Amino acid sequence: MLVIADARDPLTTGTDLLVIPVTAIGDKQRLPARLAGLDRTLEGGLGAAIASGDFRGKRDQKLLLYPNGALPAKRVLLLGLGDEAALDADALRRAGGSAVREGAARKAEKVTVAMIVRRRRVGIGAAAQALAEGAILGGYRFDAYKQAAEDGPGEVTRVQLSFDKSADLRRARAGAKRGTILADSQNVARDLSNAPGNALPPAQLAREAQKVAKAVGLRVRVLGVPELRKRKMGAILAVGGGSSRPPRLVALEHQPKRRKNAAPLCLVGKGVTFDSGGISIKPSGAMDEMKHDMSGAAAVVGALRACALLDVPYPVVGVIGAAENLPSATAYRPGDIVTSASGKTIEVLNTDAEGRVVLADAIHYAKTEYNPCAIVDIATLTGACVIALGRWASGLFANNSTLSDQLRHAGAATSELAWPLPLFEGHKKAVKSSVADVKNTGAGREAGSSTAAAFLAAFAGDTPWAHLDIAGTAWTTHPSPYQPRGATGVGVRMLLELLADWKNVKL
Ligand code: BES
Ligand code: MN
Ligand code: ZN
Repeated sequence: MLVIADARDPLTTGTDLLVIPVTAIGDKQRLPARLAGLDRTLEGGLGAAIASGDFRGKRDQKLLLYPNGALPAKRVLLLGLGDEAALDADALRRAGGSAVREGAARKAEKVTVAMIVRRRRVGIGAAAQALAEGAILGGYRFDAYKQAAEDGPGEVTRVQLSFDKSADLRRARAGAKRGTILADSQNVARDLSNAPGNALPPAQLAREAQKVAKAVGLRVRVLGVPELRKRKMGAILAVGGGSSRPPRLVALEHQPKRRKNAAPLCLVGKGVTFDSGGISIKPSGAMDEMKHDMSGAAAVVGALRACALLDVPYPVVGVIGAAENLPSATAYRPGDIVTSASGKTIEVLNTDAEGRVVLADAIHYAKTEYNPCAIVDIATLTGACVIALGRWASGLFANNSTLSDQLRHAGAATSELAWPLPLFEGHKKAVKSSVADVKNTGAGREAGSSTAAAFLAAFAGDTPWAHLDIAGTAWTTHPSPYQPRGATGVGVRMLLELLADWKNVKL
């Protein structure tokens, strides 16, 4: 999908669907002045829709009108943005999503959005970016495995953002471009996460990462089993040992022209391509959802793609620990003690707590190979996090309060919310083992997300580190205007927002 910003008059340009975003209209208020021209062209049709009460600009409210030759546009869609005082980037992102979904439902190829709302809180660049993000994210469908249906939706291929003549088009275009790269990268993450387990074993996840790297100019390293053995990565090898499809460790390197020698930010993703639980097998209800257990890895691939295309001026490295967790004669067992690459031994008390075991080696690799200024890991780590925060926020843990604050703000700015959860000394004690250095379970079901984070903290050591638990946010059964059912691609926009302010961050 192509999103372009221009200053052509939407009332005189041809389009399949002309979208008019409108903020909430008060009870006494009739037609907002800036819609008067359109209302005249439609011979009072707009004023009538508002006066009748059929359309009041409430959030996500929609009304379709047929200009019947009065305009070059085939259809006009009034789209409610909600209260003007609360207008923010996410309202515009939602509008972009609704515009494209309504267009696709009517087999529109070109959609034009009239950018005529008054902008108080959202600047022109940010507005264009949010619209572009919403349009591209809202247009996403995972239909690679479906035969084309006659009555299915069409595909919107062009979205035109029509600004008025006085607008600074240079900023609008820059915003649309940034939004396009971010949303396309998020959709790359969604595609990986939605891919079924049979189609995406660890080696395939590594190949997909390589494909993305090649397309955008990232360096890439893939470690296979002989290399993992050589590096004594007993943790990831143990988790992957139950599958006939062996584990991989992948590193994607973004190296900007300037600041070549600066210490990189390392993003580490959990890439469990299917999590059956292993010998500690999961109940079968909703086990299919565990194809998404590599969503952290998917976000890392998407984020590195965006780093390259946006030419982020800092070195960034993505590290992915990819393994399939299955029960078999070669699977690791409860009671096993495995030695991680760091030398720390791990007592395995539950083979379903495999994510932290994979991340132990991935985090150690990031630390020792890249000497990073900070590590941010992202993982569908604990069911307990879904209980604590639901689908509304990712869990946020850190050994550095500045890094935690930065991530929380990046989450708020992108509407990919992350909320701090504690990491107490008690949580760290709870993962001490009587027979090994650490154990992969904590205090039963108590504070399960915090004890999982405490396990990871032991491997991060004194490197500034944060952990995002995306168990509740990586996929959804509650679709919204720019988020269809399935993988969300959460993390990509948030991590790039973190990097937007990185030069001012002193950890
Ligand atoms: N991938 C799961 C966590 C998960 C569960 C993510 C539900 C999303 C939705 C993880 O590997 C896991 O199984 N964790 C266990 C840990 C427990 C055995 C200590 C859990 O949360 O139950
Ligand atoms: Mn598990
Ligand atoms: Zn898992």
